[in-house]
Amino acid sequence: MKIFNNKHKLQKEIKDEKNISFIPTMGGLHKGHISLIKKSKNYKGKCLVTIFVNPKQFNNKKDFNKYPRTLKRDLKILLKLKVNYIYLPKINDVYSFKTNNKVYLDNFSKKLCGKFRKGHFEGVLDVVNRLLEITKPKYMFLGIKDYQQLHLIKKHIERRKIKTQIIPCITVREENGVACSTRNKNLNQKYLVIASNVYWFLNKKKKIINKNLKFFDSSSFKSNLIKLGVTKIDYISLLNVKTMKKPNKKKEKFKIFIAYYLNKVRLIDNI
Ligand code: PAJ
Repeated sequence: MKIFNNKHKLQKEIKDEKNISFIPTMGGLHKGHISLIKKSKNYKGKCLVTIFVNPKQFNNKKDFNKYPRTLKRDLKILLKLKVNYIYLPKINDVYSFKTNNKVYLDNFSKKLCGKFRKGHFEGVLDVVNRLLEITKPKYMFLGIKDYQQLHLIKKHIERRKIKTQIIPCITVREENGVACSTRNKNLNQKYLVIASNVYWFLNKKKKIINKNLKFFDSSSFKSNLIKLGVTKIDYISLLNVKTMKKPNKKKEKFKIFIAYYLNKVRLIDNI
């Protein structure tokens, strides 16, 4: 396992590697991240993980400061997983060069989280574009848990004709149904139970909506969720997973997308 803080040193090391599998993260590693890394092992070539808490994608300074940082523990996990390269950049290493590609921001960035987190997806796309230019991977592993992020990165890669292939990875959940998330580290036991109840509520509703789309009722769902103990709901939407538009036929493949707060902690999921 080789660790780099400097992009030029990293680039020198990987310049002859044709099949890099890239897993970008912000650290605070959990079973979700680990599943991405394990999946990358099925692809030939070396595995590169970045840990960088990207300030540009936080629309709120307090949220950035409170974001869990567990570097020592993360490195132990990565060592055990036999990751080949780790890139731990400082802000300047990522942001002090001019990129070849301009970020392409699809209109879908204005929906869902984009409505509530101003500048968030601009920040995500900016850092991912930069990391791709630094590392030029063959594959990039991204979680379906952050579905809107995955969709927007796909659009950017297509539009800019970047040669990296995206490998979408399923959402890993705790036994109680809660999607693994670094932010869960900021929840106490009471809120973890509520998060689990939210998952089971949505799961049950999804089965009913599968029978008939008219059973999706966002305002009644919202009041039910508040009764379960949710502090605030940014959105709960039903969208076709390809078009990202409201479905109107039962045959369409759709998901329930949600962003909500438990106390001050914001969680997202799609079911
Ligand atoms: P982070 O939240 O650390 O997530 C890194 C990757 O892990 C993302 O692709 C995310 O979708 C995936 N992931 C998170 N939780 C998961 C889960 N429960 N199951 C499966 N995969 C999961 O997403 C980011 O970082 C950043 O926005 C980043 C892309 C690194 C850009 O800064």
